Amino acid sequence: MNALLEVEHLNKHFGGLHAVKDVAFTVERGEIIGILGPNGAGKTTLYNLLTGFIAPDAGARVVFDGHSLLGVAPHRIASLGISRTFQLCRPFVGLSVVENVVVGALGSRRGERPRRGDLEARAHVLLQRVGLTGKEGMPVEVLSYGDQRRLEIARALAARPSLLLLDEPFAGLGSGEIAELSALIRQVHADDGLTVLLIEHKLREFMRLVDRVIALDFGEVIARGTPEEIVRHPAVIEAYIGRTEDEAAHAA
Ligand SMILES: Nc1ncnc2c1ncn2[C@@H]1O[C@H](COP(=O)(O)OP(=O)(O)OP(=O)(O)O)[C@@H](O)[C@H]1O
Ligand SMILES: [Mg+2]
Repeated sequence: MNALLEVEHLNKHFGGLHAVKDVAFTVERGEIIGILGPNGAGKTTLYNLLTGFIAPDAGARVVFDGHSLLGVAPHRIASLGISRTFQLCRPFVGLSVVENVVVGALGSRRGERPRRGDLEARAHVLLQRVGLTGKEGMPVEVLSYGDQRRLEIARALAARPSLLLLDEPFAGLGSGEIAELSALIRQVHADDGLTVLLIEHKLREFMRLVDRVIALDFGEVIARGTPEEIVRHPAVIEAYIGRTEDEAAHAA
């Protein structure tokens, strides 16, 4: 069977800035792939390209589940089975927690025309799964930061994706919340057979979760490998781990 996602010659210029440089990778069904890289490496831009939020430069090949994604609108890409969460939570303010999840389901697979009642029932199941039972009717803006992160995941799952793109899901969380969210990601991966791309700076949890890592710096792939290979890779140590250790030393 073909890979779930195949990316070749992916480039993006913002004016003179070459934010994504000839990136190529494949993702097999059921993998959890980590995307590693320092601030500004092009990680979120990569997600924006994959989800149709921005268009790549000419010459790219992006094939998901047998469909070229080039020139395809974000809602169509969502309906093909790619969901994402955002680096900064973006709940629909003014709606309740459960309504936020129902809205997420509206981008669901083509051909399905679920009834509102069915969507709500499913939203309740998803909220239970992410640990938000009892908070369904609350206005979304009263949720704690950690709960908003959980809601982001419920909302992304509501569209029944086969590929889930997580952009720094652990940002701003304490270690207990990170462990819980990490267990949740493992669980949805195992139960739903979801394929996952994970961008994260919290390396300890990241390295435990992922099967393989693709490391970026200045928009380029600088290393690929297992977590064990990546933490020992000289280019990664130089670009990322070394730099954060320096920063940590400065901060200390
Ligand atoms: N819409 C845009 N217009 C112009 N420049 C952009 C745009 N989006 C991103 N960039 C630039 O592209 C580069 C890559 O940004 P990106 O947000 O992809 O980095 P990142 O790896 O996600 O970083 P972080 O870890 O800080 O989230 C940065 O230099 C950023 O300023
Ligand atoms: Mg980013």
